[in-house]
Amino acid sequence: MSVRINPSILAADFANFERELGRIASADLVHVDIMDNHFVPNLTFGPAMTERLQELATIPLDIHLMIDDPDRWAPGYAELGAYSVTFHAEAARDAVALARKLRDIGARAGIALKPGTPVEPYLELLAEFDQVLVMTVEPGFGGQSFIESTMPKLHLLREAVSSTGLDVWLQVDGGITEKTIVIAAEAGADTFVAGSSVFKADDPAAQIDLLRETARAHVHAH
Ligand code: DX5
Ligand code: ZN
Repeated sequence: MSVRINPSILAADFANFERELGRIASADLVHVDIMDNHFVPNLTFGPAMTERLQELATIPLDIHLMIDDPDRWAPGYAELGAYSVTFHAEAARDAVALARKLRDIGARAGIALKPGTPVEPYLELLAEFDQVLVMTVEPGFGGQSFIESTMPKLHLLREAVSSTGLDVWLQVDGGITEKTIVIAAEAGADTFVAGSSVFKADDPAAQIDLLRETARAHVHAH
């Protein structure tokens, strides 16, 4: 099974995105955290900055919307060419309708679950999504510690994905390091977001390689 390492530019130097994108050019996708100061108590940036990132990036954009009313805002991110657009289950009015709209525009559709949000209601809807993001910290800030009690959700998701044969990526986000990536990979994740661990490394490319090799060695052969 292939694994993906998606560095989060939340941990990058916001005044030097072009240079920062260059430091992670060997990654699979670049994870872009959109926060609105309502759904989460933090604020980043919106569509205009994302459009510029889309122009500059040499790898695809993986958008993580931590915003209220994604039904209104998410399609705009797909329209600007983002490869993948993930919105929060807790914020969406009609998750299935929104995912269908994102796919119609041409993006991969993702649904994200906060640590306390149960996964069971989404197991039977897996065909509607291209990615499920299991948050391994409370959304809002980088640099927090991995919450291991979220792992049973990944076990359930991996089981459901395997039994249906669907091509749904299982993503984890928050506190991913070369240590915690082992736990997440063994639990069933195949797509790993890492902010601090990559951008605070002296050599981000070497850290991306280390995360990728570690994940590969621990993902289940499903
Ligand atoms: C948290 C964001 C994450 C964050 C991860 O709300 O969704 O993408 O950047 O940062 P680290 O890897 O530092 O926990
Ligand atoms: Zn994120």
